[in-house]
Amino acid sequence: MPQIIHEQPEHAALIEPLLDRCFGQDRFKKTAYKVRENTTPLSELSFVTVEGDNLLATIRYWPIMIGHDAPALLLGPIAVEPELQGKGIGVGLMRETIKVAKELGHHLIVLVGDPEYYGQFGFQNASVLGFKMPGPVEENRLLVKECTPGALKNVSGMISGVPDAPLLPGRTAPEAETDEMVAGLAAFAPPAEA
Ligand SMILES: CC(C)(COP(=O)(O)OP(=O)(O)OC[C@H]1O[C@@H](n2cnc3c(N)ncnc32)[C@H](O)[C@@H]1OP(=O)(O)O)[C@@H](O)C(=O)NCCC(=O)NCCS
Repeated sequence: MPQIIHEQPEHAALIEPLLDRCFGQDRFKKTAYKVRENTTPLSELSFVTVEGDNLLATIRYWPIMIGHDAPALLLGPIAVEPELQGKGIGVGLMRETIKVAKELGHHLIVLVGDPEYYGQFGFQNASVLGFKMPGPVEENRLLVKECTPGALKNVSGMISGVPDAPLLPGRTAPEAETDEMVAGLAAFAPPAEA
């Protein structure tokens, strides 16, 4: 019996090959990938469908900003193992994760995908509302869904990824970043005696 669970670290090695099977390597050229650069998917909204040790499907959501001040989620990718598509696994993942997104207090979800499929979950055309992506995207495939009524009011503009916070309390900076910070601090050091 398939189960929807939070993505675990060990799933990462199975998710990339699944995305390759579903989208191929060309996926990295998509504008949605550009938005996700320097951004980490939200762990509380990264889910997989599993059956025993088998990974059947994946879905992730990313923090984005619409215009200057409207936080939202970017959904994607969602992918179901090719030979298991059309059996309701995608619908299950969509419904469950939208429910969790609402419970967590998110207001808007954006995605690039087939309007015929995502319309059933309440997604509507975002291009006509003035949403823009920082690269090419078919206008009819840029979609948005309100998680709270009225959330779309006065929202439009360029979509950008929310980069990972550089230094949250308790986070250890990677070595390269530390070197960069130390180099920056040197500028404040008292001048060496002549
Ligand atoms: C799109 C995808 C996630 C849907 O998941 P799924 O498990 O195959 O779909 P479900 O079984 O839950 O959905 C079933 C219904 O959606 C329809 N459907 C599936 N993909 C569709 C699409 N791209 N456009 C329109 N309808 C679609 C099915 O025909 C079916 O309709 P029915 O119930 O009336 O027969 C999955 O097919 C997939 O991974 N595809 C390849 C990767 C991809 O395109 N991802 C989405 C990128 S935006």
